[in-house]
Amino acid sequence: MKAWDIKSWRKKNILQQPNYTDRQKLENIESAIRAFPPLIFADEVRNLTKQLERVCEGKAFLLQGGDCAESFAEFNAVNIQDTLRLILQMAVVLTFAGSCPVVKVGRLAGQFAKPRSSDTEIIGNIELPSYRGDMINDISFSMESRNPDPERMSRAYNQSASTLNLLRAFAKGGLADLHQVHKWNLEFVKGSRSGKKFQDMADRIGEALEFMEACGISLKDTPSIKETTVYTSHEALLLNYEEALTRQDAATGDWYDCSAHMLWIGERTRQPENAHIEFIRGIKNPVGVKAGPSMTPDDLMRLADLINPENISGRLTIIIRMGDEITEKLPPLIRKAKSEGRKIVWSSDPMHSNTVITDNDIKTRSFNRILEEVKNFFEIQYAEGTHAGGIHCEMTGQNVTECIGGAQAITEKELTEKYYTSCDPRLNANQALELSFLISDFLKTAKNRKNLQ
Ligand code: PEP
Ligand code: CO
Repeated sequence: MKAWDIKSWRKKNILQQPNYTDRQKLENIESAIRAFPPLIFADEVRNLTKQLERVCEGKAFLLQGGDCAESFAEFNAVNIQDTLRLILQMAVVLTFAGSCPVVKVGRLAGQFAKPRSSDTEIIGNIELPSYRGDMINDISFSMESRNPDPERMSRAYNQSASTLNLLRAFAKGGLADLHQVHKWNLEFVKGSRSGKKFQDMADRIGEALEFMEACGISLKDTPSIKETTVYTSHEALLLNYEEALTRQDAATGDWYDCSAHMLWIGERTRQPENAHIEFIRGIKNPVGVKAGPSMTPDDLMRLADLINPENISGRLTIIIRMGDEITEKLPPLIRKAKSEGRKIVWSSDPMHSNTVITDNDIKTRSFNRILEEVKNFFEIQYAEGTHAGGIHCEMTGQNVTECIGGAQAITEKELTEKYYTSCDPRLNANQALELSFLISDFLKTAKNRKNLQ
């Protein structure tokens, strides 16, 4: 394989990049970021890879979720806390159902750059560059706002650093206490229209906690009950930023992208010969690659050869986002990977192939279709004898109305009430929790089937 260095991606064809006109300013910002402290450190990344190895073996489950796009405007402690709380609540449900640890990976503290289906946006007779995420340009529709500004990379770095700081504090400082998270889940069950269905499970979690206390296990002082670890992730899209935060680990000589623990490559930039795969293959972080219906078994093998030539378990997660086509397109991928003995974590992103535009021109997703894709994903993995390793969701702890359906039965008409996303529609806190309760049924079935074998 050809030699890699942190700049080798620059010699390749690259898609989905902004057109920076002030090259000098870009270079100045890149040098400044190169001197900033890393956001994460190599040992944490190695721990995540180990956790993902367990996911690969079917001994843990991956929960990856958060905003479609973080924004500068929505940056505050309440939003961070609510997103973390939601991740923790979902994780408790999934841990209990699957009787296995849940690896928690946020789509946050760095998720600021977005691929777009078109380079420009036309409103009336004005055509401007598309919004590409707050790290690149501003969403408001004027030439000045849409002009990409490299300075935004430093702002995204600073926001990521503050977000991560609060996440670490919450994760170790009491917010993650299982008793607390359980209490929130009880509130959700009480308030939910399908609460009855979930009550039984919530009761059993409560009983399990009481049982342990009764046995004399003092949970108040048990670190694994009181605290947790939440990792961060985002799409590695703006490679100028990713390169500037990539550092060589003194202990091993390996390169780590220190902007997040895990990075993924999107559906639109995963061409094996292009810049994004070139960059990602050289860093040691666990890597995700999105796989839509167009991914062929040969594409998958090529990507696995490039990204994971040593076939390390936990290194490569394939994030399936195929919508209805999953039943036809996923089995050949799994079969090929299995026949070649490839170590792959299979995760399901039920969001990105289920986006529709309503008659009123609003982007939305239906809860039922999201659930349907996850269900198919679990069924296919079972039929092929592989593990449904995880889910990848766009969601928010806020009470938004962006996706239709769920027990709340949000209708198309209600979408405009609280539609705040700066990119794709997200599940709100109730919908995301409801999804995790429903997924817990699939996890239980998978567990029971395994026990019967
Ligand atoms: C995303 O995860 O926000 C995204 C753009 O996904 P995909 O690359 O799968 O379209
Ligand atoms: Co999205």
